[in-house]
Amino acid sequence: MDANEAIAGRRAVREYTEEVIDEGLIRRLIDAAVHAPSAVNQQPWTFMVVRDQSVLERISHDAKSYMLASMPGGQHSGHFRSLLSDPKFHIFYRAPVLILISAVAQGPWVVEDCALAAENLMLAAYAAGLGTCWIGFAQSFLNTPDGKEVLGLPAAWVSVAPIIVGHPKAPPPDVPRKEPEVHWVG
Ligand SMILES: Cc1cc2nc3c(=O)[nH]c(=O)nc-3n(C[C@H](O)[C@H](O)[C@H](O)COP(=O)(O)O)c2cc1C
Repeated sequence: MDANEAIAGRRAVREYTEEVIDEGLIRRLIDAAVHAPSAVNQQPWTFMVVRDQSVLERISHDAKSYMLASMPGGQHSGHFRSLLSDPKFHIFYRAPVLILISAVAQGPWVVEDCALAAENLMLAAYAAGLGTCWIGFAQSFLNTPDGKEVLGLPAAWVSVAPIIVGHPKAPPPDVPRKEPEVHWVG
């Protein structure tokens, strides 16, 4: 699959089969992630692969409570509040794997670096026939002392990109893009 095909075809996947993902394939995705550019080539990322469903269940439960308690009012808050209040809603959609990309170094661009690694990982997963979705619902909780304790994350690490990975149950729907606003100078 060429790069343009992967960029245009990747979609967030929210329904997965229970099929296990081969460890070698997970390592290939991480290898794609670390080919991302990073500021001053710092490569500030680290990867935690979580396959234990009881751990994912616990994070889902605790992250929902945390989000509900800390969510500011706003445009999406009504929708998010009802989703997060639903006991059946699993923030990781019962995907078989979560790959959490965290920044282990400090610096002004470590979040951008980890986000670039995440996009590489998601594109490589799509090219390998897998589905992914960035789970922002997990981010704030995983940066609390309680969240870090669940995964044994050191206090200094910053959780940037929780990416679920699995075999899609069905092709995800297309998500149309807005016409880009482009300003030309010169
Ligand atoms: C930073 C970030 C956080 C996101 N958080 C969530 C999330 O918590 N739950 C979810 O279902 N999708 C989440 N998404 C996926 C977006 O909803 C999705 O990428 C967007 O709707 C565009 O659809 P597409 O990825 O299929 O093109 C997140 C995406 C990003 C980039």
